[in-house]
Amino acid sequence: MTQRPLVLIAGDSHCEQAVKQERPNAKIVGVLRDLALVEYVSSEMFVDEVVLDSRLTPRGESLEGWISRFKKAFPHVAVTVFRESTHRNTAQVPAASVITSQTVVVWSPKGGVGKTFISANLACAAAIATQGKAALIDLNVYSGDVATYLDLSEGPTIIEMLPELPRLRPDGLDRYTQIYGPSRLNVICGPRRPELSTLVGVEHAKQLLSLAARRWGLLYVDTAPDITSDLLGEAIDAASAIVLVITQDVCALRQGKIALDILRKLGIHESSIHVVLNRGARDAPLPEHKVEEYLEKKLASVVPDDRKTVEKSAFQGRPVVLFPKTEIASSIWRLLSEVSPGLPLPDTDKRQNKTRRFRFW
Ligand SMILES: Nc1ncnc2c1ncn2[C@@H]1O[C@H](COP(=O)(O)OP(=O)(O)OP(=O)(O)O)[C@@H](O)[C@H]1O
Ligand SMILES: [Mg+2]
Repeated sequence: MTQRPLVLIAGDSHCEQAVKQERPNAKIVGVLRDLALVEYVSSEMFVDEVVLDSRLTPRGESLEGWISRFKKAFPHVAVTVFRESTHRNTAQVPAASVITSQTVVVWSPKGGVGKTFISANLACAAAIATQGKAALIDLNVYSGDVATYLDLSEGPTIIEMLPELPRLRPDGLDRYTQIYGPSRLNVICGPRRPELSTLVGVEHAKQLLSLAARRWGLLYVDTAPDITSDLLGEAIDAASAIVLVITQDVCALRQGKIALDILRKLGIHESSIHVVLNRGARDAPLPEHKVEEYLEKKLASVVPDDRKTVEKSAFQGRPVVLFPKTEIASSIWRLLSEVSPGLPLPDTDKRQNKTRRFRFW
């Protein structure tokens, strides 16, 4: 009996469909968009071939560099590069891309712009869309705000996990994870007190991010604004997408522009950076299109300033995505569809997605 070749797809469902059409005999063992995970899976299981989408951008190296490093590490694995333009059946292939794994880091160099609000809501929406297969990690270890936003102040935090971390397997994280009931979001809370933050080191962050990516696949990370923080550096290193939060405040905008510049210099691909305008107000001196002009980047979503709903949400420990029929909830779903494409949206938000952004302004 001839054995079916085991193929790992480094790309999206588009690439998967193309492989299925061209090689009906191949057995597809996984579809991953994160090249770090492709390396991990190749080291954990036997794979004959990796089909690599040429549009993927490895972190800190060229695609060619990644391929040559991968070939050295896994000489028995064949690497085939999939190029959409040269593919014969492109027109018949559905364009949908379903996220299988992703580490999304929510950041801004400016404090108080809504990083925790956005990360908690984005993660909660992803957990609803995936029926609990998403996690939120609070790496802003000085604030512990995630626990406050989700009313999870009693359970375990990252601190109890630290002594065990080097020996933990991915499912060992469950002991230190709290489940946010209404959306079944997995949450790793930050320290309860700021003085405990110094206990969390870079190695801890690295191990935790790697374990959590393997445990849940879809990972959202809240961060501190400090650009010099090693924990932030570790998170950005592990990120497959970055959500940069800005507001219409001139200082936040200027710092946002500098942050964009830094992220680009770090070699992060334009398509992996999503800028969200939080607390958007119609009467602000700088309207949406001016913000886009200034940043030279399209906004992924505009989250309106809605003090009443946000304060109610924080008071109840219930993210705004659980407040149906609000514009602010719709804007978060819209952001999710930009950042983690392919996840199912609630019906109302699918409809609103097409029109609301323009209506709001
Ligand atoms: N869209 C919004 N509309 C109204 N209020 C908002 C909105 N987004 C955030 N806020 C409020 O702004 C304040 C700051 O939000 P948040 O704590 O998420 O900021 P942050 O960037 O995480 O701050 P830090 O840098 O301290 O971690 C909070 O009081 C929050 O409720
Ligand atoms: Mg915060």
